[in-house]
Amino acid sequence: MTSEFAVEMRDVVKRFITPEGSEMAAVDHVTMQIKNGEFFSMLGSSGCGKTTSLRMIAGFEWPTEGEVFIEGKPMGHTPPFQRKVNTVFQSYALFQHMSVFQNVAFGLEMEGAAKDEIEKRVKRALEMVQLTGMERRRPKQLSGGQQQRVALARALVKTPDVLLLDEPLGALDLKLRKEMQLELKALQQQLGITFIYVTHDQEEALTMSDRIAVMSKGKVQQMGTPVEIYERPSNKFVADFIGESNFIEGKIKSLSGNEACVFVPSLNAELIGMPISDGLVKGEEVTVCIRPEKIHIAEKNAVNQNMFRATVTNTVYIGVDTKVFVDAHGAKLKVWEQNRISRLDPKSFYTVGQEIWLMLMPENTLVLKKD
Ligand SMILES: Nc1ncnc2c1ncn2[C@@H]1O[C@H](COP(=O)(O)OP(=O)(O)OP(=O)(O)O)[C@@H](O)[C@H]1O
Ligand SMILES: [Mg+2]
Repeated sequence: MTSEFAVEMRDVVKRFITPEGSEMAAVDHVTMQIKNGEFFSMLGSSGCGKTTSLRMIAGFEWPTEGEVFIEGKPMGHTPPFQRKVNTVFQSYALFQHMSVFQNVAFGLEMEGAAKDEIEKRVKRALEMVQLTGMERRRPKQLSGGQQQRVALARALVKTPDVLLLDEPLGALDLKLRKEMQLELKALQQQLGITFIYVTHDQEEALTMSDRIAVMSKGKVQQMGTPVEIYERPSNKFVADFIGESNFIEGKIKSLSGNEACVFVPSLNAELIGMPISDGLVKGEEVTVCIRPEKIHIAEKNAVNQNMFRATVTNTVYIGVDTKVFVDAHGAKLKVWEQNRISRLDPKSFYTVGQEIWLMLMPENTLVLKKD
């Protein structure tokens, strides 16, 4: 390998002229460095520029500004077939009139590979995706998950260094999707190929990825491991988009080292010892962010610090957890509590109108710059 990075997007912009006549940046100054052998995901809601980014890496689109590098080489206007990447599209686009074998062999035949070479490589690709024995079937004689695997085998047979996957599991039902997620991840690890995976499903991205780029409106909001993205979202958008969060508006009253005392008007109280990120200053308006599962409910005020009285406004039992909605001095918060004990008595759960105490642990709380 000539470069530490399999793929790099350096300050890439892609502008389109819309049919309505206005110009829009589908990808807006995106920089990403994807390491060799990494499972990298682009995650974001519809229209945020995931497919456009992938198409620029594949060579189906060219950047308006910036540059795409593959294995350290600037791609310029290199056509797709000369790039060491292969794409699995969302619609598998299998040839319906061809058998599984013919579908997978097609790309090699186009390249003029020898017959026995083709047979050997198709056999191996079908083994990888566990479709051995199905060579003679047509796509319509396969399940959705099996068709998806044919599409994967077709990409793998060309032994690419980098596989680009655009929502490849989008058409599958939830159960099959979850199975395929684990299979794909295992296959990626076994082959050591770099995967660049596009999805709008946060659980999918968290399950499979080594690193994730969270995107919104053509920009990367945060890049990091699943744990970093979930536990240390760098802004309110990411904290809101990945999982659920409570947001409380506040103001930094004092600072000492990396800890702040934050005054929260809605609770008419101070949060003490809150860890803060760089760049926040005394007097600054901030957003305090805390995940619902990280708020602790107590019967009484045990520690006298970072504890608030609240009234239960609603509870929802969902098996694994109970979702408790509370009102704390007018601040509406949600608290998820795991049902660790098996019980049937309704009185053993929180009831509407019940007075409780909420405990916010500093290590579970994030103080973010206000947008
Ligand atoms: N050829 C084009 N001409 C004009 N606008 C385009 C073109 N291709 C994409 N766009 C616009 O660029 C934006 C990003 O599109 P893109 O397909 O990259 O989104 P996406 O993140 O893949 O979304 P989805 O999850 O829905 O697939 C969208 O607003 C889209 O309408
Ligand atoms: Mg897309």
